[in-house]
Amino acid sequence: MQEELMEIALKRNFMMPSNEIYGHTAGFYDYGVVGAAMKRKIENAWRELFLWREGFYEIESASVLPENVLKASGHVDNFGDPMVQCRKCRTRVRADKLLEDALKKNVEGMKPAEMDALVKENGVKCGKCGGQYGEVVWFNLMFATTIGAGEAEKGYLRPETAQGIFTGFPRIFRALGAKLPLGVGQIGKSFRNEIAPRQALMRLREFTQMELEYFFNSADAKHPRFDEVKEKSVRVRSAEMQKNNETGAHEFSCSELVEKKIVPNEIVAYFMYRTAQFYEAVGLKREKFWFRQLLPNEMPHYSKGNFDVEVETSYGVIELMGLAYRTDFDLAGHAKASSQDLSVHVEGQGRVMPHVVEPSFGVDRLFWAILEQSYRKGGGAEKRDWNWFDFAPIVAPFDACVFPLMKKDGLSEKAEALTQVLRHEGLSIYYDESGSIGKRYARADEVGVPYCITFDYESAEKGTVTIRYRNDGRQERVPIKGLGERIRGLILDGKTSL
Ligand code: GLY
Repeated sequence: MQEELMEIALKRNFMMPSNEIYGHTAGFYDYGVVGAAMKRKIENAWRELFLWREGFYEIESASVLPENVLKASGHVDNFGDPMVQCRKCRTRVRADKLLEDALKKNVEGMKPAEMDALVKENGVKCGKCGGQYGEVVWFNLMFATTIGAGEAEKGYLRPETAQGIFTGFPRIFRALGAKLPLGVGQIGKSFRNEIAPRQALMRLREFTQMELEYFFNSADAKHPRFDEVKEKSVRVRSAEMQKNNETGAHEFSCSELVEKKIVPNEIVAYFMYRTAQFYEAVGLKREKFWFRQLLPNEMPHYSKGNFDVEVETSYGVIELMGLAYRTDFDLAGHAKASSQDLSVHVEGQGRVMPHVVEPSFGVDRLFWAILEQSYRKGGGAEKRDWNWFDFAPIVAPFDACVFPLMKKDGLSEKAEALTQVLRHEGLSIYYDESGSIGKRYARADEVGVPYCITFDYESAEKGTVTIRYRNDGRQERVPIKGLGERIRGLILDGKTSL
């Protein structure tokens, strides 16, 4: 399945190995015309749910950060993986993954020296050539660079988009009315120099994050919209379940999560529900993902409570996002290192350093998980013998295709004019006039376009077109007047069959 899907993803230009003509450097993938269009849709679905509907805003901060920023954030000292190199073939691997595979033991949180002892005691040999490993050392995952010429300042490519939100906090806070709670988001590239990147989009060295930093007063760790979600349930694999070796995940309502103190506060529970809602909206099946509570030794250096969303994929169980209670770790660290006051005034309380809950999403793994879960081999109500994608309409690469039934008799010109009208109405339209109509329907299915609009002879006479629905292949005839609104309505309803 994995190889077949990758071949299709490459062929249909969802994605491409970066700089392929020079030989592909592991850990970098480009999105092709179909993939980039779809990625934008995923990002906009996130904006809609995590920013716009919440009344939050987005910034765009620098990707190159001076060393002092990342020293204060703890990344210079803490952000790395244990690494070991084969003395014979020089292959470098992550020591934790090596030990987990070789000894079936969870070594998360162990120091490099402890891992080194395990490699030696158990005589773990290089998986590639059988050679002996050298010493386990700590490898910082950030890409280092220099800023400027001459006595250049040391810098790094950002390992997360979040830091720009923390360093910009005082100005953003003032600009938005100096009130807590406050949510600030960012979608952008982050960079991690992974030791052994593999599995295509699953472990990239350059990847896209969608991060929200929710700043609040820790003396009032409530969410103003918690009532909307308190009865809703999410699937959670709690620390206790893991300790008791229970498998799977349990359903917990958001209020239960708070009452049982599985989450540190109701803000975390609130964003858990929104996260699940987002994943379902973009097409992940509910039973395929869950929130796993991280154990104390697995938590990032800034966190006082962390949940990862894990999803089943053909690569195994993969982490899709992290929901972290970052407390005031970052603002307090930056305040100290920059000697700036990053606290805010709270009526009746005085100066307060805001705390932060952060839902942090990776786009690329999600992109792949959507491809996997939406891939269909033929079938549907129509007897089709081609493979297609059952994407949720909100993330399909194009909202609709427009086809003239024939190229002749002025149909092309009229279909192109209709395409322009629909594009001006804000829809993303793929126009195609080559080959038989059956072939064009198949091509649209192959990249998961939910609606095909055909302009035929009756269209020219009566001002109507047909809409073909992707999943059942059935068609309806509708007026051209109001078509854009109709398509938009279908997308919002997620309708894929007539
Ligand atoms: N901002 C959290 C992370 O990048 O892991």
